Amino acid sequence: MKRFADQGAVITGAGSGMGRSLAAGLAAEGARVCLVDRDEKSLAESVRLLGGPSPSVGSVLCDLTVDAEVSRMVQEAVRTLQRVDLLAHSAGAFRMGAIESLPVAELDFQYRVNTRAPYALTQTLLPELRKSRGQVLFVNSSAGLAAGAKWGAYSATKAALKMLADSLRAEVNADGIRVLSIFPGRTAGPMQEQIHRLENRPYHADRLLQPDSVAAMALDALALPRTAEVTDVSIRPMMKSG
Ligand SMILES: NC(=O)c1ccc[n+]([C@@H]2O[C@H](COP(=O)([O-])OP(=O)(O)OC[C@H]3O[C@@H](n4cnc5c(N)ncnc54)[C@H](OP(=O)(O)O)[C@@H]3O)[C@@H](O)[C@H]2O)c1
Repeated sequence: MKRFADQGAVITGAGSGMGRSLAAGLAAEGARVCLVDRDEKSLAESVRLLGGPSPSVGSVLCDLTVDAEVSRMVQEAVRTLQRVDLLAHSAGAFRMGAIESLPVAELDFQYRVNTRAPYALTQTLLPELRKSRGQVLFVNSSAGLAAGAKWGAYSATKAALKMLADSLRAEVNADGIRVLSIFPGRTAGPMQEQIHRLENRPYHADRLLQPDSVAAMALDALALPRTAEVTDVSIRPMMKSG
């Protein structure tokens, strides 16, 4: 028996990186998946890699910072999935800069993607998650637990996301809903390529944490019997970059 058989899952950021890996892992384990991202090409590529479009692999294009698009996306996702057992938040944005110089607009932008969008989407999907006694996964970051120089704005939006996850857990556990935050370190993919460029250091994808490893760890936690709840998981590359 596949571990997520007949479950419906909405995955944001599914056009790339960890979101794509989560969608692939869930589909391979029997879930019907609705992939969400804002870039048409990367979203289509993820769907293709999962063998879709098909009744079990669908997608909705959505900019998660636009409330009207989120409402429309949720309607579409619920219509096609019939039920939503898992909401996985993986979409995220990163901007680097010292507090002295990073424009406030860049803090606002990251807040909208990393904090506000998961809040709004979770709120919109909660009635469905209550019906299914479902699960919510927040892909947070090691930077949401500790901030370094030039990471303040990003870290603040991710630390806030942890607080939202913790609060949500306290509110919905009684309804049978589980809430998991994962805190990956540097994970190979376009976001880390961008960060390495900004840090002026060579990018070696093979030395970093792999998105499939993060997804595998998350799925193991989400598949545990309902007598258990994994709340927070940190996962880091074996080779530390200092
Ligand atoms: N990579 C790391 O080292 C690392 C480590 C710890 C935590 N994280 C977090 O883990 C999550 C996944 O990271 P990743 O490395 O897989 O990143 P990624 O490859 O950049 O994937 C993130 C996806 O989210 C999409 N997205 C961004 N803003 C969106 C919006 N407003 N509406 C819809 N989709 C949007 C991106 O689209 P665009 O490409 O068009 O922006 C991209 O396809 C993020 O939340 C990130 O903050 C990453």
